[in-house]
Amino acid sequence: MPSTPSQDSSFLGHPRGLATLFFTEMWERFSFYGMKALLILFMTGATVQGGLGFDTPTAAAIFGLYTAGVYLSALPGGYLADRLWGQERAVLYGGILIAAGHFSLAVPSKATFFAGLVLIVLGTGLLKPNISILVGRLYASQDERREAGFSLFYMGINLGGFLAPLICGTLGEKVDWHWGFGAAGVGMVLGLVQFVLGKKKLEGPGMQAHRPPTEPLARKIRGQIFVGLGLGACLAVGLGIGWIPLTAVQLANFAAIAIVSMAIGFFAYLLVMGGLDSMEKKKVAAIAMLFIFASIFWAGFEQGGSSLSIFARDMTDRVVGGWEFPASWFQFVNSFYVMLLVPVFAVLWTRLGSRQPSVPVKFAVGLTLLGAGFLVLTRAAQLAETGAKVGLGWLVVAYFLHTCGELCLSPVGLSMVTRLAPERFAGQMMGVWFISMSLGNLLAGLVAGKIVQWSMSGVFFGVAAVCMVAGVLMAGLAGPVKGLMGQGNRADAEMDSTSASSAAGPATEPVGSSSSP
Ligand code: PHE
Repeated sequence: MPSTPSQDSSFLGHPRGLATLFFTEMWERFSFYGMKALLILFMTGATVQGGLGFDTPTAAAIFGLYTAGVYLSALPGGYLADRLWGQERAVLYGGILIAAGHFSLAVPSKATFFAGLVLIVLGTGLLKPNISILVGRLYASQDERREAGFSLFYMGINLGGFLAPLICGTLGEKVDWHWGFGAAGVGMVLGLVQFVLGKKKLEGPGMQAHRPPTEPLARKIRGQIFVGLGLGACLAVGLGIGWIPLTAVQLANFAAIAIVSMAIGFFAYLLVMGGLDSMEKKKVAAIAMLFIFASIFWAGFEQGGSSLSIFARDMTDRVVGGWEFPASWFQFVNSFYVMLLVPVFAVLWTRLGSRQPSVPVKFAVGLTLLGAGFLVLTRAAQLAETGAKVGLGWLVVAYFLHTCGELCLSPVGLSMVTRLAPERFAGQMMGVWFISMSLGNLLAGLVAGKIVQWSMSGVFFGVAAVCMVAGVLMAGLAGPVKGLMGQGNRADAEMDSTSASSAAGPATEPVGSSSSP
């Protein structure tokens, strides 16, 4: 019976299928973060050393647009899974495209470099949102293990993210760029093998057989794919050969507006013309509200790779035992903390069971923690701006607070979308959820670009203020958003009232634990 909670608990207390999805996603993220660690270095690397020799603004723009594109493509990726292929096949096709992309990067030529990036963007759009949906489907809608399951899945993501720079980064930088990219491709192939072998274990109470579309509909969708790919190719070529004269920053600003309009358009379309009943409409409205706060969160959080890196490079004393370690090493810190903290959070949510804080309260805590991290950085930057470099403890504490915030928001958000999205729009809803990430990445880049104008401490303080205000707003809106999510009704009444009355208590627990790293 579809609504009976699954009793399967053979993978660390979770359904067996979680192991398959955990390792597939681990390898996918390994390949993604492995090549991401190399990308900027390779593009700006001198041609005599095998790099592409691009200037920094061009490389940064390509990097920003690539990372935004990777998450933006989740919307068509989700759509294709909903309408044409189903989630499982979408993950499989996505993995194949990603592996092909990395191997294309492994070939030393500019054409194969750009082709590789495009293949990875398309493949990730198919794989990433849909694999998250498959995780959600392992659980019945009221199964309290769902969020803990997503936390574990998140650990797989970060295990991949942690190993990647070590392996692909070292190979790429020390041996040959293309070996690094090739290693990323090998990782994705391992993920694919894992997925194909473990696919049988993917049944769960929420798993539904995919209903293939009728032939005319399938033909129409295939037509849309060709038109979409054609337009994308024209745009890329137009930009590449300078027919569309836009600077990198103009392009990023334009992309931000386009992404916001797309998200608004999508939610409006679904609410007005999606044929949803009133219950479904409320849930979609709840996702839309949370989407706004998630975008603000990612715009701050994703500065971990931009303004925080610059702070690490220019203002932090990185000399340990007489040796200065590279600023890029701070990129491990977040993944390391995630692996350390996920078990803590998983136990916390499981222990609290029905008493755990509601999703909007967790979001509010997440934003506040991120804001607190930026306050720490503001003080550090103020000190550094007076002359001497500051100790690395400031960044270590800030990344810790940011990671605690991430764990209150990111896996929780994924889990919430799989629970609330109307079944027939599951892929698209997850796709739109990833757009918050795409937007966040783009905004993070634009905000980090303000360092020169506003000073480092000015930027950090501004981000801290926005996050704190957003956290307070989110907390204020928690009641109405919970109402929209359908809690406070029927069977959820009990869970909701206990979590509401205890929200002030447990909700602050991660804050308390995070203040003493
Ligand atoms: N570290 C996360 C990941 O790579 C960031 C992320 C969260 C990306 C949510 C997309 C959506 O998966």
